Amino acid sequence: MKYRNIIVGVTGGIAAYKTCTLVSSLKKQGHTVHVLMSANAQKFVSPLTFQTLSGQKVYTDMFSTDYEPDVHHISLAKEADLFVIAPASADVIAKIANGIADDMLTTTFLASRCEKLLVPAMNTGMLDNPATQRNLEICRNDGIHILESDSGYLACGDTGRGRMPEAEEIEDAIKMYLCTDRPLTGRKILITAGPTRESIDPVRYITNHSSGKMGYALARAARNAGADVTLINGPVALQPLYGVSTVSVESADEMYQAVMNHYEKNDTVIMAAAVADYRPALVNTQKIKKEDGDLSLTLMRTPDILKEVSSHRKAGQTIIGFAMETEDLLNNARKKCIEKNCDYIIANSISEKGAGFQGDTNIVTIISKDATVSLPLLSKDEAAVQILKHCLSGKKGSKC
Ligand code: PMT
Repeated sequence: MKYRNIIVGVTGGIAAYKTCTLVSSLKKQGHTVHVLMSANAQKFVSPLTFQTLSGQKVYTDMFSTDYEPDVHHISLAKEADLFVIAPASADVIAKIANGIADDMLTTTFLASRCEKLLVPAMNTGMLDNPATQRNLEICRNDGIHILESDSGYLACGDTGRGRMPEAEEIEDAIKMYLCTDRPLTGRKILITAGPTRESIDPVRYITNHSSGKMGYALARAARNAGADVTLINGPVALQPLYGVSTVSVESADEMYQAVMNHYEKNDTVIMAAAVADYRPALVNTQKIKKEDGDLSLTLMRTPDILKEVSSHRKAGQTIIGFAMETEDLLNNARKKCIEKNCDYIIANSISEKGAGFQGDTNIVTIISKDATVSLPLLSKDEAAVQILKHCLSGKKGSKC
């Protein structure tokens, strides 16, 4: 992604402290960040904080003579690639919905033609108020993007909707709007991620080490490239992905059902999930009591989701599987590619340092009938971009 010009508007709300992390992180990534603060925002965080974090003058006053001699709200608006307001108070949302421009922030917002994102943060009652909901709907209809609030403990002591998402989640949404190269526009991609969890009894289960990071990286990369992405994930501890329709499941059977419900509507299916091959034949309804001696569990096969999808594939559908191996990686992966009738299989091995489960990096080999392409150690985000480029640009993969 190129370095871009981002305006961060800050309005009056305690969540403004989280915007400090956002501004700092965007600056560290190399973007130019201009911060505009409303009068009330300055009661929560000082302009000096944002000036220090952004390395830029902070704009608070339309008529200040301290700024360079040009019409600031217009020049800032013209240069911006993205305008995000975080936190966006009920007051600023109401002003924006009605085209009110009575300070530096709202005037610049009105003058901007770039992508715009509001991150509402307020008390649940204020957010649920029909007036606020009406104003948000007007903003949506005007083409302004809204990042939904989180639920949880609010600074006022209430618990409910209205929390501002963490900086990481806002950044994820920002990335999506900063990507102007969208080669996958018009494509519909189904991606699976994470482990599955197979219950033994109400207390215990069988699972594996998958974190879901590889599948999420693919979903993020596909979304940023313009695809319409559906993500089916097993139990993971990852931030939800903005702009991705997500279905959460637990077991292999549930993942099977979810994939079967969705795969036909997609032109590409990517199975990065580590699906359990076996589940306990019987799930005890009560906790199994500890007794002397060993305990044997009978395991039975789960459905092979990838094989099932491949055998019912629609014309023109691209099917991409993953293979996690501990030995003879390429031969085993090729065998899987043929058995499961995939267009591509992405092979990775836990024997290689930096590859496989949990970490932020991977070493993958893309296998198809025609070619075997090995990628070096990459971040999972970069590996995902390379996998999509290789498998989805140009000609369709020919089956293994
Ligand atoms: O989630 P991370 O921590 O980031 O780790 C990433 C990963 C290692 C999980 C990922 O890169 C990966 O390799 N995913 C596939 C792991 C796996 O289960 O491989 P497999 O060789 O057992 O399965 C082969 C393929 O069949 C996979 O696409 C799998 O999704 C699919 N499968 C497996 C079993 C089953 N019952 N149904 C399936 O569809």
